[in-house]
Amino acid sequence: MSSIVKKIELYKDFKKIIQVFKEPPFSEQLTEKEMIEEYDSYLEKGVSYGYYYNDEILGFIGILNGIQQGHPIKLYNSEEVLYVNGIAVLKDYRKYGIASTLMNHAISEIDLYKIYAIYLRTNYIGSKLENIALNVGFKKIEENGQVITEDVTFERNNGKISTDKRMFMIKHLKK
Ligand SMILES: CC(C)(COP(=O)(O)OP(=O)(O)OC[C@H]1O[C@@H](n2cnc3c(N)ncnc32)[C@H](O)[C@@H]1OP(=O)(O)O)[C@@H](O)C(=O)NCCC(=O)NCCS
Repeated sequence: MSSIVKKIELYKDFKKIIQVFKEPPFSEQLTEKEMIEEYDSYLEKGVSYGYYYNDEILGFIGILNGIQQGHPIKLYNSEEVLYVNGIAVLKDYRKYGIASTLMNHAISEIDLYKIYAIYLRTNYIGSKLENIALNVGFKKIEENGQVITEDVTFERNNGKISTDKRMFMIKHLKK
């Protein structure tokens, strides 16, 4: 019996793990087409890693290359930055350090000569990722002493439109 972090190479594993986002507070509607598009986006312009135990996926982190549209990253050129687009762990396996392991693995794989920072966006209030990110060296992005936030509007799987306030956190690697 063993656990390992490796690149996700099977769509079925990706599909299983992103069902996490169907749960509250995300309650996201995910069509098959959207899941395939997201899976392909990591193959084409990023990477996704899975945390596996006995070949069963328990957690995932999805990284995209570059500054995403509209995100307030000012210090770097887009090609110098990576974005943590998603991180999720199956409900029964949370609080065992799996997300922290995935985050550390992703950071350790970064080519420091070309990538100078990795950033993420998470809930401004009630984020489950905030402490994990702080512990691996991320800082909240501020402007004039204020945390930069963004209102994100999305459709929940009950059809309701919701708005969440999100903040940005960044880990500077080298420059
Ligand atoms: C956010 C999420 C990925 C965290 O995954 P996780 O594997 O539980 O994360 P970790 O175990 O590394 O850390 C979670 C907490 O458990 C604690 N922990 C880790 N190992 C532990 C252990 N052995 N015993 C007790 N606590 C432990 C960590 O210190 C951390 O504490 P915190 O709540 O004070 O921050 C998970 O809750 C999830 O999938 N949530 C739904 C999706 C989501 O919110 N994604 C983030 C936005 S995209």
